[in-house]
Amino acid sequence: MGRLQDKVIVVTGAAQGIGEAYAKGFAAQGAKVVVADLNTEKGELVAKQIEADGGSALFVSVDVSSAESAAALVEQVVATYGGIDGLVNNAAIYGAMQFDLLITVDWDYYKKFMSVNFDGALVMTRAVYPEIAKRGGGSIVNQSSTAAYLYSGFYGLAKSGINGLTQQLAHELGGQRIRVNAIAPGPTDTEATRTQAGDASKELVKNLAIKRMGKPEDMVGAATFLLSDESSWVTGQIVAVDGGQTFRP
Ligand code: NAI
Repeated sequence: MGRLQDKVIVVTGAAQGIGEAYAKGFAAQGAKVVVADLNTEKGELVAKQIEADGGSALFVSVDVSSAESAAALVEQVVATYGGIDGLVNNAAIYGAMQFDLLITVDWDYYKKFMSVNFDGALVMTRAVYPEIAKRGGGSIVNQSSTAAYLYSGFYGLAKSGINGLTQQLAHELGGQRIRVNAIAPGPTDTEATRTQAGDASKELVKNLAIKRMGKPEDMVGAATFLLSDESSWVTGQIVAVDGGQTFRP
């Protein structure tokens, strides 16, 4: 028996990077994984790889900033797997994001960015939670970042929002036996990070307690714990998986 045996888990942004590692890691623990992403080509490939390795996966195209798109995803997942037990809100605009200040960033870009990186987690949660409740409860994991604790512009602001959302939703959904937690990764070696940070990540590593970049697979253990019944009394927590980049007193 896997630690997530037969649980149906939706992972947004699962076509690459950390989301792909989540999808593959959860499938290896017996979950039926929904690879949910805007990127159809890469998402379908991830689902096919999981199935080729003996796991169960379904690719569903979704835009997490759209309530209609989220509702269509839920319909398709329930038709295929019969329900939903867990949701990981990992999708974000990250690798190709613009760098600008809060006081100068173009309004339309800012609103689009926040609609994905902040509102997206709420849009998906609102669409999915009734199905989790029907199963008698389950778990939602939001993807935060250590950027929430550091000076990092509107990207960090969105992640601070994710932390607040996690705590608020933990209270709103706890009565329905739905737990809501977050993972705050430190600098993690994905294609998106290489595009976005380049050599700057080498400097970041010097200040970590563990002197290496994170790997997408480093996030899987914490996420598996938070999705599994092992964490049945853990909710509203932001778990840093960051090589010791940050700590909270
Ligand atoms: P990535 O850019 O490789 O993956 C993001 C995925 O989200 C992509 O597959 C993309 O197609 C998808 N996506 C973007 N907008 C979408 C939308 N509107 N609807 C559905 N899917 C959409 O990023 P990476 O590096 O794998 O990061 C994943 C998550 O982890 C993000 O939330 C990021 O902010 C967070 N994070 C990453 C860190 C890192 O160092 N890589 C550190 C801390 C947090």
